[in-house]
Amino acid sequence: MIISNQVKSTQHSCVVGLQWGDEGKGKIVDVLSAEADIVVRYQGGANAGHTVQVGDREYIFHLVPSGILKEGTACIIGNGVVIDPRALIEEFDGLLENGLDHEANIMISDRAHVVLPYHGALDEAKESASEDGKIGTTLRGIGPCYTDKASRIGIRMEEFVDPDRFRERLTRIADLKNRELESLHGREPIDAASVYEEYSAYADRLRARVCDVTAYLHEQDSLGANILFEGAQGALLDIDMGTYPYVTSSNTSFLGLGAGTGFSARKVGRVLGITKAYTTRVGEGPFPSEMDDEAGESLRQAGAEFGATTGRPRRCGWLDIVALRRAIQFGDVDAMVVTKLDVLDHLDVIKAAVSYTVDGVETDQFPASVDCEIIPHYRSFPGWLESTAECRSFEQLPEKARQYLQFVADAAGCPIAIVSVGKERTQIVTLEPWLEPGAGGEGD
Ligand code: GDP
Ligand code: IMO
Ligand code: MG
Repeated sequence: MIISNQVKSTQHSCVVGLQWGDEGKGKIVDVLSAEADIVVRYQGGANAGHTVQVGDREYIFHLVPSGILKEGTACIIGNGVVIDPRALIEEFDGLLENGLDHEANIMISDRAHVVLPYHGALDEAKESASEDGKIGTTLRGIGPCYTDKASRIGIRMEEFVDPDRFRERLTRIADLKNRELESLHGREPIDAASVYEEYSAYADRLRARVCDVTAYLHEQDSLGANILFEGAQGALLDIDMGTYPYVTSSNTSFLGLGAGTGFSARKVGRVLGITKAYTTRVGEGPFPSEMDDEAGESLRQAGAEFGATTGRPRRCGWLDIVALRRAIQFGDVDAMVVTKLDVLDHLDVIKAAVSYTVDGVETDQFPASVDCEIIPHYRSFPGWLESTAECRSFEQLPEKARQYLQFVADAAGCPIAIVSVGKERTQIVTLEPWLEPGAGGEGD
């Protein structure tokens, strides 16, 4: 990938989810990639499902960065990502089927860890062991792969594409994993020889893509390239700051960027946090503003809230300002992008949780424990009851929608930079200048 030597005015950006994932990051990264030379995934794996809608064509990316549709954009998979080679190659083939021969634009970190069949088998075995300990994972082997990374028995890409070292390490580790699968979980063992055969073919295809992406990012930064970082999942699924243990196994927020790329987060000038105009969650775990009723079902239908990776129905609820503020704070978010505003178009009343009573004590802070009782307190807003799908400027939005957005900026204490009013790439309202907290005259 050759980026012009000419120095441009650069401001690297990062897009992260502020909720429990599926905020619409894929769409926003696709839109912002128009201005980017390089798009970088830095954590997570094929548990992610990032949708980009272009006309009547829908693309769902799991490992490939969502900037791939733009011709000539370098798409990087950083060392913090766990890569399932089979899933990645399926994505490459899917792109080719859509006439997009962009595989050569992809670079994979030599230090990224590889997801192998025993990771998926262990994920499944652990999830089905007991209802009590169930996380509701995507069963993509993510937790077991990061476990191996931390236990220092992971296989990294540089080793994976070296046939002799891969065979030797795979044989040794598969033996360990088989003991775990058989004696602890009563599962069938993995046949290391057939895994080697299948995965060697994947290694052959990926070898040319594997390189030192950290060195590349630093070089391109010094040449003035514009870099866009793409977080997967959402802040509340962050292994350290999320609703542990109902989280994924990586730092899903801005906190993961430096460790997941070897590129300093201090060089990133703009962090955009994506939030839906309401909230969804897939899998188990606390969700204080969940609507486990007809209203929730109506949001699910209006928002087509079914998982992009697993197809599971997403749990739906109102926007949660307490959780949002927390995510903005620890994720160092400069501005929000509010997506799926159009999904609220049909509602005559819209609510948002503004504080909680946690185990009998009123608070505006998100609790650490997932075992406490949380009663959310809501503020209600009149709905606008008209379509926002064709709005392309703040002024075109209905007044009540503008008031709701102003409330969100005020209550979250963070400006809004972009509003999304439909799944299509062009259904976007860019706020220039940003909608600042307090701009409506009365703070909240
Ligand atoms: P991601 O994981 O954050 O990239 O989000 P997903 O792709 O998993 O889920 C977001 C879903 O909402 C996808 O089906 C998108 O096509 C869709 N979407 C994104 N933005 C909007 C929007 O503003 N309005 C509507 N109605 N759908 C949207
Ligand atoms: P994107 O990038 C929504 C959830 C799973 C489960 C928990 C742990 O599309 O926003 P894992 O398989 O990671 O061990 O599962 O995390 N989860 C997601 N939920 N969107 C995602 O990604 C998710 N990736 C993981 O449902 O609750
Ligand atoms: Mg998703």
